[in-house]
Amino acid sequence: MKIGLIGLGVMGYRIGANLVKEGKLDGVYNRSEEKSRQFEKEFGVKAFNSIEETVENSDVIITMLSDDNAVGSTMEKVIPLSKGKVVVDMSTISPRLSISLAKKVEENGGFMLDAPVIGTSIMVEQKKLVVMVGGNKEKFDDIRPILESTASTTIYMGKNGSGLYAKLVNNLLLGAYVVAMGEAFNFGVTAGLEKEQVEEVLTKLSSARSPTTELKVPKLVSQDYSTQFATKHMRKDLEIIQGEATARSVITPMSSLALQFYRIAESLGLSEDDFCSVYEVFRRFSKRP
Ligand SMILES: NC(=O)c1ccc[n+]([C@@H]2O[C@H](COP(=O)([O-])OP(=O)(O)OC[C@H]3O[C@@H](n4cnc5c(N)ncnc54)[C@H](OP(=O)(O)O)[C@@H]3O)[C@@H](O)[C@H]2O)c1
Repeated sequence: MKIGLIGLGVMGYRIGANLVKEGKLDGVYNRSEEKSRQFEKEFGVKAFNSIEETVENSDVIITMLSDDNAVGSTMEKVIPLSKGKVVVDMSTISPRLSISLAKKVEENGGFMLDAPVIGTSIMVEQKKLVVMVGGNKEKFDDIRPILESTASTTIYMGKNGSGLYAKLVNNLLLGAYVVAMGEAFNFGVTAGLEKEQVEEVLTKLSSARSPTTELKVPKLVSQDYSTQFATKHMRKDLEIIQGEATARSVITPMSSLALQFYRIAESLGLSEDDFCSVYEVFRRFSKRP
């Protein structure tokens, strides 16, 4: 089974590295060529010159791309060549788009699975990603060992789109939680507590502490917004949730409010920074003690 990877961003590059270490990757493609050339140099895996060349030389095509536009435009080139191939899309995109792309792939004699992930770049490096998969079960069984090169948990969720709905459940909570975390941190500091005291409350003493407070609160203390998961991606995920909720007339007030905060953070120039930088909205617009 020849495997090609399209998308060498924060996640894709590291997922690719894990695959190479298990001898499971045959070629890569990235829109900006320097990343695929860098990957070729670092790992000795062929950098393809186009999406078409990647698909033609692969049985399984993994995509790890930013958003609906990126996956949609890439799939326009993949679909006509997809006969007999399996596309595994690990990006977080709109489930409805993914379902319609999977249908087109099947009409061309191939299969597409949605396989979005829970976990940051650090968890990719530790091979501790959670991957939730939607689509044909037999194809899932076939490609499972590929996902297991980079994941500690790989779960089949059901038909096409199910993996993405499961992923959005996670990011609905995470998006709202990190806004509330920024609000709580700011509340404590403006009340006169030391940053380190607020950190201790949120990471060690709080009944609402979590792996997310452990990972992100130290970043608030040092105002280190180096990117694990970008603000623009969390904004995008909450927009997908709003779209899905609107289509079903489901109320989603918490994630709707959280979305506004990520948009404000982006207007402060924090789009590419880690999404915990949403704390800056509270910090910059509060009176200091
Ligand atoms: N980072 C995380 O912690 C994390 C966690 C869970 C899920 N995710 C999801 O995983 C996906 C990738 O995240 P990431 O952090 O790796 O993103 P990233 O670092 O921004 O990388 C995005 C990738 O998509 C490519 N791309 C963007 N627009 C494109 C277009 N129009 N056509 C073709 N390629 C395009 C980029 O190519 P260029 O290099 O040319 O820009 C790059 O390879 C996103 O859907 C994100 O929501 C991320």
